[in-house]
Amino acid sequence: MNVLITGGAGYIGSVLTRLMLDRGHKVKCLDRIFFGDESLKEISGNKNLEIIKDDIRRFDGKILDNIDTVIDMAALSNDPSGDLNPESTMNINYKGRARVAELAKKHAVKRYILASSCSIYGFREGILDENTPANPLTTYAKANYMAEKDTLALSDNEFTVTVLRQATVYGLSPKMRFDLAINGMTLGFYKNKKIPIMRDGTQWRPFVHVKDTSKAFIQTMETEIELIQKEIFNIGSNEQNYQIFPLAELVAKSIGIPFNYEWYGSPDTRSYKINFDKAKNILKFKPDNTPKEGAKEIYNALENKEVTDSMKTSTVKWYKNLIDMDNFLKNIKIDGKVL
Ligand SMILES: NC(=O)c1ccc[n+]([C@@H]2O[C@H](COP(=O)([O-])OP(=O)(O)OC[C@H]3O[C@@H](n4cnc5c(N)ncnc54)[C@H](O)[C@@H]3O)[C@@H](O)[C@H]2O)c1
Repeated sequence: MNVLITGGAGYIGSVLTRLMLDRGHKVKCLDRIFFGDESLKEISGNKNLEIIKDDIRRFDGKILDNIDTVIDMAALSNDPSGDLNPESTMNINYKGRARVAELAKKHAVKRYILASSCSIYGFREGILDENTPANPLTTYAKANYMAEKDTLALSDNEFTVTVLRQATVYGLSPKMRFDLAINGMTLGFYKNKKIPIMRDGTQWRPFVHVKDTSKAFIQTMETEIELIQKEIFNIGSNEQNYQIFPLAELVAKSIGIPFNYEWYGSPDTRSYKINFDKAKNILKFKPDNTPKEGAKEIYNALENKEVTDSMKTSTVKWYKNLIDMDNFLKNIKIDGKVL
């Protein structure tokens, strides 16, 4: 199949791109390359891969000619980044992705899969499934929810739209993120011998390994359209719902270290425990990895210096840096003229 992945240079996208190529698909990665292109460098010579540096708000729709499936990953990818500039978040995460879906339909793409998030459930008691009303609390979650609505509305017999609401992701990627719970806990212990825990530790979150969520996109793409048309799937597994404090204990145990921790942040207003039966029954999705293995692989990679943290591995810090740089450049004047 010919696949276009927006945000293909990102944390999930760079893992998904590799899995797609391994399965013999031809991939176009369309990414603004906000974090650089190192994550795709190793595979950049692959004859089945085309890397396009462009923006989902502006790219020429011709790029979509002869594409069978679009996987729309590009976004400012977490709550704090979404709050840095809510207008840009809406323009990219909502309007940008609605634009990708509209263009895809116009260019006769058959399938469109939106990378959404379980964060749209916000705060709710009980176990939530795809029929539970959304409760998006942040700009990031609201933009996801609006993108879901607009893209699903385009679904018809010629153009199949499917939404995947991913759990919080963990595990190693060529474009590492340490701002995700399990990854950050592991890094915190590696650097300071203490696991950072977001207050107050009782909040529930579902988790999924980066290879597993990537596999879910591929399985969705390969499932017959009657089963996935205009459907929403939570992506994760019932067994990987955790409260944050016990999760930190589990991370410590997996690495084999004494459980020392430190608190950060103000109490998290988001808490959600998710039911993943629909993906299991219809997509036949079953994760291969657990947080125990995920924490261990990251810890080993840190110890072996295969991965390291930097400003770029914190999404909000890196975007803040880009915004500051942009403002700085806008204010440089030469002979009284703005550059
Ligand atoms: N990582 C998670 O835990 C998680 C959980 C649920 C949902 N998601 C969603 O999955 C998707 C991928 O997340 P990720 O963790 O890989 O994030 P990421 O930030 O690592 O990757 C996003 C990619 O999108 C690109 N991008 C951003 N704006 C763009 C634009 N205007 N045009 C083109 N490219 C643009 C960035 O350069 C980056 O490479 C996002 O939509 C995110 O919201 C992620």
